[in-house]
Amino acid sequence: MPEESGRPLFSPRADARLRRAMVVGALLAALLAATAFAMARSGSTWRVGEAAPQPIPFSHAIHAGGLGLDCGFCHAGAARAAGAGMPPGELCLGCHQQVWNVSAQFAPVRAALQGGGSTTWSSVHRLPEHVRFHHGAHAAAGVGCTACHGAVEEMPRTVRAEPLHMGWCLDCHRDPAARGAQPVGLGRLAQQHGGATLPALANCTVCHK
Ligand code: HEC
Ligand code: HEC
Ligand code: HEC
Ligand code: HEC
Ligand code: HEC
Repeated sequence: MPEESGRPLFSPRADARLRRAMVVGALLAALLAATAFAMARSGSTWRVGEAAPQPIPFSHAIHAGGLGLDCGFCHAGAARAAGAGMPPGELCLGCHQQVWNVSAQFAPVRAALQGGGSTTWSSVHRLPEHVRFHHGAHAAAGVGCTACHGAVEEMPRTVRAEPLHMGWCLDCHRDPAARGAQPVGLGRLAQQHGGATLPALANCTVCHK
């Protein structure tokens, strides 16, 4: 039916209210987006600095810092293999059986050894199932443990020092030389895509199965 009176659809008052609501809505949406962005970038979302409950109160500050034990002494795979690995209970008891026997604290290590298994440590670094990682590749390129784990030898309780989210990994993979890395394998290659030269290390399949 055609409009007869020629009156506007909304009264001027209602129109002003609608405008105000739209401005407020847009501001809220912007605030929400900014908050989501800040949360995704913030360390707490990625559990940076949070320790995990452990069966034994192990301290890197005492063992790697104070005693000066090499990281590879306990994490033998870190130099070459994909996984860094955890020390076998025998290695702890080698020092703690008689000399530095803190008996009660070592019950979980002994129980694990008797059962033929290994001590179950909680991880503060575990990546999601769909992401692949390789310690040896980074060691070969001269990327030290501190680049990703921080000053572990100063930690009384082990915490995550870096967010380890995708953007953080890519930051280095797009330009490893800027972070002091010297690639020896895949990291030296580039690929052409739509006329642009992209670093091969930034390819999705490098980190995703
Ligand atoms: C005496 C053995 C020993 C030495 C030496 C040692 N670690 Fe560890 N490391 C452990 C044990 C045990 C754990 C598990 C308990 C914990 O997280 O504190 C661990 C855990 C870690 C974790 C956390 C793993 C995860 O999944 O979250 C990192 C990272 C790590 N060590 C790095 C290092 C670095 C870097 C060095 C050298 C500066 C080092 N460690 C030296 C025994 C050792
Ligand atoms: C090279 C010898 C050596 C090895 C290997 C070793 N420790 Fe120790 N550990 C020590 C010494 C030394 C101390 C300090 C004792 C002290 O201060 O009275 C210590 C202290 C401790 C303490 C007491 C910490 C505290 O806060 O008082 C725990 C728990 C411990 N070690 C666990 C472990 C575990 C678990 C392993 C194996 C992953 C391990 N240690 C391997 C030598 C060793
Ligand atoms: C480029 C970053 C990076 C570097 C460099 C690096 N790590 Fe890791 N580390 C990680 C990530 C990511 C994980 C978790 C891996 C996963 O969940 O698959 C991890 C896990 C670990 C773990 C837990 C056990 C395991 O094998 O998953 C230990 C222990 C560890 N790292 C020790 C070391 C030591 C020691 C060095 C130096 C020799 C080192 N890391 C260098 C990123 C790094
Ligand atoms: C400080 C720089 C740096 C950081 C941070 C870093 N990487 Fe790397 N990564 C490298 C370099 C350099 C290489 C290539 C080494 C080579 O050329 O052999 C590499 C290689 C790899 C490889 C092996 C590729 C292959 O097939 O040879 C994987 C997988 C990988 N990175 C995953 C990750 C993940 C996941 C993270 C984040 C948790 C990460 N990286 C963080 C520098 C870094
Ligand atoms: C240098 C390693 C690396 C590369 C290259 C990489 N990713 Fe990731 N990706 C990660 C890591 C680490 C995570 C887990 C942490 C996170 O969610 O940020 C992840 C998570 C993801 C997720 C899950 C996000 C979520 O919210 O659960 C998706 C989807 C994804 N990546 C897609 C891609 C695609 C598409 C590419 C290629 C354009 C790519 N990734 C390249 C390391 C990488």
